[in-house]
Amino acid sequence: MRVLVTGASGYLGWSLVSTMQRHHEVTGTYGVHRAEFPGAAVRAMDLRDAARVRSVVEEVRPEVIIHTAAMTQTTDCERTPDEARATNVEGTATLLDAAGALSPLPYFLHLSTDLVFEGTKGGYDESDAPAPLMVYGRTKLDAEKAVSRYSGPMCIVRSALIYGEPQDGRSCFLDWMLAGIRENRGALFTDEYRTPVYVGDLLELIRNAVALRAEGIFHAGGPDRISRYDFGLLVAGVYGLPRQNVRPARLAEVELSAPRPADVSLDITKARATLGFAPLPCRTALERIRNNSPQP
Ligand SMILES: NC(=O)c1ccc[n+]([C@@H]2O[C@H](COP(=O)([O-])OP(=O)(O)OC[C@H]3O[C@@H](n4cnc5c(N)ncnc54)[C@H](OP(=O)(O)O)[C@@H]3O)[C@@H](O)[C@H]2O)c1
Repeated sequence: MRVLVTGASGYLGWSLVSTMQRHHEVTGTYGVHRAEFPGAAVRAMDLRDAARVRSVVEEVRPEVIIHTAAMTQTTDCERTPDEARATNVEGTATLLDAAGALSPLPYFLHLSTDLVFEGTKGGYDESDAPAPLMVYGRTKLDAEKAVSRYSGPMCIVRSALIYGEPQDGRSCFLDWMLAGIRENRGALFTDEYRTPVYVGDLLELIRNAVALRAEGIFHAGGPDRISRYDFGLLVAGVYGLPRQNVRPARLAEVELSAPRPADVSLDITKARATLGFAPLPCRTALERIRNNSPQP
């Protein structure tokens, strides 16, 4: 199977190419940070360069496109909303146009986010209406709308916060949290709830979705609804770090560049039933990550 993975230089994209290259003919794309893989081709492809996107897609002629590339830092998106829109919305539309010119039409799997929800109720399932609070979430939602207009088979995977082993120097929020706890700096919100998902579980969900050519929207979170603060305590416990270095804060106490949703926990009943999704509880996943990662 010919697979095109955008964002191969990012945390999730790198993990995807690394596993999929074993079984498929994979091409990974990057924006500015070149990534190397022993068993996959790589191409530079800035999503804002329509001619380049078209030529890469025409050259690769993928049967499957997994679109992970995006401007992902929420604070950067707030600061430069036009750039966020150019990459996340217009870039996705450009990629969809290029895919739509192929015959047969490739299966298009798009990575979206729990931050399309406003976070007032939690436990969001696929039938809940999105209402993003931040620029990042708004651009990701508009990208979803573009994907849903694609005339070929398509799937939108709304992921929760992703954590896992450091990937060839690429880090996720767990690494930032670990550094903060080790260096005894920063505080974690007691009233911001998420359903963090282990990257290995998310990769399996994506592989299953591709294998089944699953269509529609799927929520992909972990089984635990947990505050950032409680996740920090769990991390400290699993890594043997001082619990007193995990300090609590409340959302209302901190000046933020944009309002943060309080509870964007995801209901994953549909992915469990349809894609065999069985994500690990946080503690089990953290123990696995600790055992798989070299300790500083
Ligand atoms: N990480 C999470 O916790 C999380 C949670 C929910 C959803 N998601 C979604 O999952 C996907 C992957 O997230 P991630 O954390 O793995 O992302 P990441 O590590 O921030 O990587 C982003 C990727 O997008 C590429 N990119 C950015 N701007 C681009 C542009 N203009 N043209 C082409 N490529 C561009 C980057 O390439 P260069 O660096 O080479 O430019 C990089 O490969 C994203 O769609 C994100 O919205 C992530």
